[in-house]
Amino acid sequence: MASPIVTMGFSEATQKRRTIRALDAKTTVPDSTIVKLAEAAILTVPSAFDNQSTRLTIVFGDDHKKLWSITGDALLAKIGEERWLGGTKDRITNFANAYGTILFWDDLSCAEAMKEHAPDIYKDKTDEWVAHSSGMHQYYMWTALEALGLGVNLQHYNPLIDAEVQKTWNVPSQWALKSQMVFGVPKEGSAPGEKPQKLPLEQRLQVFGANAKI
Ligand SMILES: Cc1cc2nc3c(=O)[nH]c(=O)nc-3n(C[C@H](O)[C@H](O)[C@H](O)COP(=O)(O)O)c2cc1C
Repeated sequence: MASPIVTMGFSEATQKRRTIRALDAKTTVPDSTIVKLAEAAILTVPSAFDNQSTRLTIVFGDDHKKLWSITGDALLAKIGEERWLGGTKDRITNFANAYGTILFWDDLSCAEAMKEHAPDIYKDKTDEWVAHSSGMHQYYMWTALEALGLGVNLQHYNPLIDAEVQKTWNVPSQWALKSQMVFGVPKEGSAPGEKPQKLPLEQRLQVFGANAKI
C-alpha cells in the first residue's frame, strides 16, 4: 500500500475541520500532495451504484487568481457597482488572496446514465445520490486539507461562473459546477471559536439496542 498522504488520525482530523475564510497565498505541503489527495478522493469515495459522477478541477497560482477574477467580473455584472463595492468585492478579493481552489463538478452524463439504468423505484432518487457523493468528496478534501495544516472554506458561485470557467480551463460541457473550495495557510488569529451547537445531542442522535460491551 502507498504511504499515507495524511497521517493525522480520523477523529482529530474531523475535529480540526472548520470554515476559515482569512487565508494567505501560502501552503504547508507541495502542490503535488494536494493533487494526490484529489486523486485518492476520486479513487476511493463511494457513489450510488458506483456511478463515479464527481469531477474535480484544481487551480493554483495564477489560475486560482484567474478563477476569482472571473467570479468578480460575473458578480459585478450581475449585482452592479453599488453592491459590489458594499462588501462583495472584499469577499472575492479575500478568496483571490488564498493559495488555491478546488472546483467540484457533477458529470451530468453519468447522472443521466444512472437514472436511465436504475430500477424504477430508485429513478427519482438518483439526482439526490449524485449530490450525496459530491458532498462526500467535498468533506474528504476539506478534512484532509485541514489535517495538512491548511485552512479551508466552501463557496458557491455556480452556476453564474460555469460557462466562463469551462471555456477558460477546457472543462467538458456536461460537467455542472457544484462548489468551490478555497484553501491556504490560515492568517494569524483566524482560528475559529468553539463550534456552536443549535440543539443538544439528545435531540439530534437516536440510539437503540446498543450493547454495553463488544
Ligand atoms: C453544503 C454547505 C454549503 C456551504 N456553503 C457556504 C458558502 O456558500 N459560503 C460560505 O462562506 N460557507 C459555506 N459553507 C460553510 C458553512 O457556513 C459552515 O460549514 C458552517 O457555518 C459551520 O462552520 P464550520 O465549517 O466551522 O464547522 C457551507 C457548508 C456546507 C456544508
